[in-house]
Amino acid sequence: MKVYESLDDWRAARRALSGRIGFVPTMGALHRGHASLIERSVAECDVTVLSIYLNPTQFNNPDDLAHYPRTLEADLDMARELGVDVVVTPTYDALYPDGYRYRVEEGEFSGELCGAHRPGHFTGVLTVVMKLLNLVRPDRAYFGEKDYQQFELIRGMADAFFLDAEIVPCRTVREADGLALSSRNALLDAEGRRLAPRFHCLLRSPESDAAVRERLARAGFEVDYVETRHGRRFGAVTVHGRTRDVRLIDNVPAPATARSDDAAGVLPGAVNA
Ligand code: PAF
Repeated sequence: MKVYESLDDWRAARRALSGRIGFVPTMGALHRGHASLIERSVAECDVTVLSIYLNPTQFNNPDDLAHYPRTLEADLDMARELGVDVVVTPTYDALYPDGYRYRVEEGEFSGELCGAHRPGHFTGVLTVVMKLLNLVRPDRAYFGEKDYQQFELIRGMADAFFLDAEIVPCRTVREADGLALSSRNALLDAEGRRLAPRFHCLLRSPESDAAVRERLARAGFEVDYVETRHGRRFGAVTVHGRTRDVRLIDNVPAPATARSDDAAGVLPGAVNA
């Protein structure tokens, strides 16, 4: 496995690569959810490229960025074991030579759900993913459905800008109790970890979005949103811990009898999770 911190070196190496290239972009703190994306890329592609880059431009809250788990050595071990061929770990200066003057902005869906609660978040995500897709030029890029809004926005961006990469959705990986795997789960204290699976459980309830919001709040979560649209129910909550607050997001196929605020139809490519 080759590790490139220098983008100049990586770009030179990329020019020499052939075969089907699979790409898994991450912010590190790898877990079984990431492993499932990597495994799929290794199975479907000739070369798998993993990026590990904690992207500051997508964090609207400096405290969230400061406490995001960083586990580079363990990440590299996992990547090696899973058969990753190349890891790219760029620096901010190399990835943002423009100082983030140039940005990719989406004008509709990025302002909803997480976008309404995290100003600038999706502009940071789309901008860094566009840079990474241009640097890696993959045939396929793999994204988890836990971040369903992110996946939809990236697929839309790839269509809008005629990118050649196929944007592949991968099922959410869950703990046995239903909690969606996330790098942020490591920040939950014991009490928060006990509460967290109620989030997924209540999202699946056939009750209305408003009733689910109320039940989540009564259970002890701070609720950002629970909204059903495009055939899915999306949610975001904060678990208040003794030392740290942890924001969780999740989404499920819209429960059959849940009241939908926007019955605009199923988003293309939706996969149950
Ligand atoms: O989902 C993530 O980990 C990040 O948003 C991504 C896609 C790697 C961009 O920084």
